[in-house]
Amino acid sequence: MFEGKAAPIRINEVATRDGLQNEAVFVETDDKVALVDRLSGLGYAKIEVTSFTSPAAIPALRDAEAVMHRIRREPGVVYTALVPNVRGGERALECRIDEFNLVMSASETHNLANLRMTRPQSLRQLGEVAALARSAKVPVNISLSCVFGCPMEGEVPAAAVLEWVGRLADLGATGVTLCDTTGMAYPPQVHGVCAAIARAYPGLHLTGHFHNTRGMGLVNTLAALQAGIRQFDMSLGGIGGCPYAPGASGNVATEDVVHMLQCMGYDTGVDLAGLITAAHVLEELVGHALPAQVSQAGHRLKRHDPPPGFDAIRARAHARTSDNTTQPVAP
Ligand code: COA
Ligand code: ZN
Repeated sequence: MFEGKAAPIRINEVATRDGLQNEAVFVETDDKVALVDRLSGLGYAKIEVTSFTSPAAIPALRDAEAVMHRIRREPGVVYTALVPNVRGGERALECRIDEFNLVMSASETHNLANLRMTRPQSLRQLGEVAALARSAKVPVNISLSCVFGCPMEGEVPAAAVLEWVGRLADLGATGVTLCDTTGMAYPPQVHGVCAAIARAYPGLHLTGHFHNTRGMGLVNTLAALQAGIRQFDMSLGGIGGCPYAPGASGNVATEDVVHMLQCMGYDTGVDLAGLITAAHVLEELVGHALPAQVSQAGHRLKRHDPPPGFDAIRARAHARTSDNTTQPVAP
């Protein structure tokens, strides 16, 4: 059912972008840098460090330059950032970004709310940013929001999504991220849309990006995996959400997905124990409990001490057995 376990699953961390952009507190620059540096050692394929958006629109990430300049670059990790326009692209190039992550929405209403442009205007602008990236020899990924539904429009037709992905590929993007911005996706839909896009654009590198708004983040990840997607965005602790999408909540949690994939025998290259420690650091930084589950419960094989008085319970049970009043039960 889940073939291709030999091929590693590539994990992108987005907590410092998708996560922190949605937090009420401003996490200090030093703390952001220390967090990214900690994450850099954990085996990710990619870290979305920040976004070069208007500081008025996303105040939580207004220190993008300072963070990018000060982080340690681990060889082999792609350090990317969200770039909404040419201005953002110029700022990102100044910081020697490894990749641009451009953004637009498959939904007209969400595109207007989030980016203040119609989709055709966005496409034109992305063309300009992609040209800037090309001239600097920086690869371009494009995150397409609301692929599986829009909180304001409802269903987003799969045929329209397919057309938009085609337009993004025509801009020269090497990859497209299929984003379930407000957790509206469900497994058969995810499988159908991902498989159709993979079939239509075999040269395009696809990434899955699921939010856990309705508790379907993990099953949607599995559905995408079954459809052949091999790279995923996820957020430490399960924080995240778009401030311009009503009802948006956290991304699927990195530690929850990595734990599940490890149990299933997939190689993610990511250090789960390190993730759990990092999630506790993040919890301190944002000042509230995080929605992720594995950083609270631990690995499924984590051993717990028996309850108090257990020795007495066992002794009494064994005494009953030797009494022959109770038959021993096979484990
Ligand atoms: N970096 C820094 N400042 C920027 C900027 C960028 N990339 N793009 C625009 N600005 C500034 C302008 O200089 C201008 O500043 P001023 O008011 O001091 O003159 C102001 O923002 C408005 O500029 P304008 O070109 O009119 O942009 P806008 O108001 O139409 O905003 C976006 C367009 C996309 C840049 C802005 O809405 C944005 O950054 N949105 C964030 C989207 C996002 O990250 N959402 C969550 C992730 S999906
Ligand atoms: Zn998101």
